[in-house]
Amino acid sequence: MKHFLQLRDLDREEFEHLFRRTRVIKERFKNYVAYQPLVDRMLAMVFEKSSTRTRVSFEAGIYQLGGSSIVLNMGETQLGRGEPIEDVARVVSRMVDIVMIRTFEHPIIERFAAHSRVPVVNGLTNDYHPCQVLADIYTFIEHRGAIGGRIVAWIGDGNNMCNTWIQAAQIFGFKLNISTPPRYGVDPSRLAGVGRDCVEIFGNPHDAARGADLVTTDVWTSMGFEAEAEARRKAFSAYLVDAAMMAQARPEAVFMHCLPAHRGEEVSAEVLDGPQSVVWDEAENRLHVQKALMEYLLLGKIES
Ligand code: CP
Ligand code: NVA
Repeated sequence: MKHFLQLRDLDREEFEHLFRRTRVIKERFKNYVAYQPLVDRMLAMVFEKSSTRTRVSFEAGIYQLGGSSIVLNMGETQLGRGEPIEDVARVVSRMVDIVMIRTFEHPIIERFAAHSRVPVVNGLTNDYHPCQVLADIYTFIEHRGAIGGRIVAWIGDGNNMCNTWIQAAQIFGFKLNISTPPRYGVDPSRLAGVGRDCVEIFGNPHDAARGADLVTTDVWTSMGFEAEAEARRKAFSAYLVDAAMMAQARPEAVFMHCLPAHRGEEVSAEVLDGPQSVVWDEAENRLHVQKALMEYLLLGKIES
């Protein structure tokens, strides 16, 4: 049994499989061809933070595969009244087939997984957002072909998305240029043993964007950090991805954002709604890659 708590829980070969399956599953969906290998399977989704894309894509996805889902808002469960996460994992995983969790501290999901009988998927923690980067890489491949050897520029917060991109650079063999405001950088431990040919840190965001095939950013204030919002707005003001920033990248570069976006803060409306932006495909692909992921975690390598 496998969990998907961070990107490096799967290897390159497993990702190649997932991308092949995503293509097949997406094409069937687009052609209204029913594909229901997960009849009678149940997904439980546990949310401790807000969500639009993650909830809709997992709920629609498991239903389209023939299964069904239960949504648990943590505060409305006994977890909110202090039941240990280990006990909840033991109980819930005897009743459902797969669990997705969105929570704050990453160790919460690790503790759940350690006591779960069924696969656990990370739907976002303070440290990682692997389903999103899975969709992002699939989206890049759809638009521009293989990502190996390319340059990806991360502009903004050294957050859960950035941490996940660092793992992606190591797995897929592209170069990740990161530029964050000084006090909001990546924890140096995440870069231990990672060469500058794989991940390079830039003081100036325009330098990070130079020659990039993909420019990506995220909100300045992630969920759970709302108390810092005002300080962050000041610290991040030079990290707006606008047309001048995109002009540093290759002319055929694409722009991505995991969404929700704030036009005029981390990205200008001109870029988000402009011709280089692939954000809507990126959001849609959450559905397709996660269907491939659930199929793989529950049934293994299906080729049909
Ligand atoms: N990108 C993403 O995970 O969106 P939600 O917060 O709406 O789920
Ligand atoms: N970094 C953001 C991503 C939201 C999908 C957050 O954690 O709030």
